[in-house]
Amino acid sequence: MKEKLIEIAEKIKDLDPVEALRFFADQYPGKIVFSTSFGWEDQVITHMIFANDLPIEVFTLETGRLFPETYYVWNRTLEIYNKPIHAYFPDAQVLQQMVDKKGPNSFYESVENRKECCGIRKLEPLKRALKGNDLWVTGIRSEQSTNRHDMANLEWDEQNQMIKFHPIFFWSLDKVKEYIKINNIVYNTLHDKGFPSIGCAPCTRAVREGEDFRAGRWWWEDQSKKECGLHTTT
Ligand code: ADX
Ligand code: SF4
Repeated sequence: MKEKLIEIAEKIKDLDPVEALRFFADQYPGKIVFSTSFGWEDQVITHMIFANDLPIEVFTLETGRLFPETYYVWNRTLEIYNKPIHAYFPDAQVLQQMVDKKGPNSFYESVENRKECCGIRKLEPLKRALKGNDLWVTGIRSEQSTNRHDMANLEWDEQNQMIKFHPIFFWSLDKVKEYIKINNIVYNTLHDKGFPSIGCAPCTRAVREGEDFRAGRWWWEDQSKKECGLHTTT
């Protein structure tokens, strides 16, 4: 797989993100999906896909605990582009068992509980969303964390046995903001209130000036444990 990735990386190295997405949509027809959490990086990519009519399925993991602002962006995006965004929900029975046993906010009590909640609300639905596909597009950028700095824009995802592509991996935040402004893209207003990274409402808070991009995610936990498992870096 490594040789194949190097070969593909060579083919896309001079392409802009839209051209690269088009290239992959041609290479993997009906087997390419994009996951959006409606953050500004994701809104940029959603715009690229929808405005250019790229045959890439867009989906979101509806954890049931998103911010009202996020639902607003989701809805506006549907209205603006008139294209489908598929929602993947947690398994109702498994979720019910957890909430019945541990209450609605068990994630604050231990890392184990938090991982259980992310597992039920995000990872299992993600598995369903990725099933049968060959390529997964995300809005990850290199700048977002030290972990991510060590990643590449094209990767082999061992866990999900598929290629992962991050079209705006090398973009700075300023470039993301500029693209949003120029193209008049709807974005989550929490970004203007100190939230560079937006996940579930009970697990995300604003960061202070100069703090890390992801400092507001699971802020009560150790720095080292702060990935939810959607994106493992090994
Ligand atoms: S996370 O691992 O900490 O949750 P982050 O919020 O940085 O991820 O987002 C990185 C990428 O993961 C997004 O660009 C998006 O592709 C995907 N992602 C994160 N959360 C979701 C979600 N709820 N639904 C769909 N995709 C998501
Ligand atoms: Fe649960 Fe928080 Fe993970 Fe969302 S981010 S799935 S609420 S633990």
